[in-house]
Amino acid sequence: MYKRLKQICRKPAPYEFYTAETLWTDDHISKKMLEFHLNPDSEPASRNHDFIQNSINWIRDRFKVGPGLKIADFGCGPGLYANAFGEAGASVLGIDFSRRSISHARDQAVKKGLSTEFVQKNYLDFSSDERFDLITLIYCDLCALSPEQRRTLLRSFHGLLAEDGRLLLDVFSLKAFEGRREGSSIEHLLLEGFWSDEDYYGFLQTIKYDDIKVVLDRYAIIQESREWEIYNWLQYYPVEALAREFHESGFAVSEYYSDVSGAPFDRGSETIALVAKKR
Ligand SMILES: C[S@@+](CC[C@H](N)C(=O)[O-])C[C@H]1O[C@@H](n2cnc3c(N)ncnc32)[C@H](O)[C@@H]1O
Repeated sequence: MYKRLKQICRKPAPYEFYTAETLWTDDHISKKMLEFHLNPDSEPASRNHDFIQNSINWIRDRFKVGPGLKIADFGCGPGLYANAFGEAGASVLGIDFSRRSISHARDQAVKKGLSTEFVQKNYLDFSSDERFDLITLIYCDLCALSPEQRRTLLRSFHGLLAEDGRLLLDVFSLKAFEGRREGSSIEHLLLEGFWSDEDYYGFLQTIKYDDIKVVLDRYAIIQESREWEIYNWLQYYPVEALAREFHESGFAVSEYYSDVSGAPFDRGSETIALVAKKR
């Protein structure tokens, strides 16, 4: 027990493990995630639906979403944004590795008679000959990637964007990092059965990496038949570091906001949204 706990509590090197695929595509967890996405008030998977509606309205106006505009929505989930852009007449491709979310998104598109297309794929491996006028990556997905993965994704966005295309995404700010606390807890059926439909104990440990502004939420799920772990890394950004990272990947940031509903930029906000274009 002592040895196992010592092993579980070890502080891993930043980004030592990448488990996002299990977090989003495991059969049981993805069912729970879809419930979260579709619950208008819950925020673990998508933001609350009032926010999303404001965000869609703002994006529609700001980027003139309509016929003739080609959009790629990375990490589209069940298509809450992608299908709304489709309803506005844009030509939209949603990319996500969750089979369950993609299937829901496609069903909704068919029900609404939309031509929105969806691809079930790890977006780090996505490539296409198409060029997009707008690429979106919404709900701080960039923050869950390692620096190397972020470089890969930004390089891919650069290639996929039309010459005068725009990239819109959001990230967690330094303000949000300051609000995070280290700690650990163990709970029977942690998060009310979120992790498995079988009996389990869930051990959550939150570790801060102050020098690089990264937080790890590590979940160890302990069951009779197996023990497994989910590593949820989050990068928090000072606005200057964000500008640097995008510059190094061939982008110029043209606009900053507090969130993807176009709220004016404020250093006190927990998120930062940006619009970038090719340099
Ligand atoms: C936080 S949710 C946001 C969903 C959507 N953008 C929204 O705001 O409603 C992140 C989404 O990204 C997807 N995702 C995360 N990493 C991915 C990857 N490497 N490749 C493809 N999809 C990924 C997840 O399956 C999930 O649907």
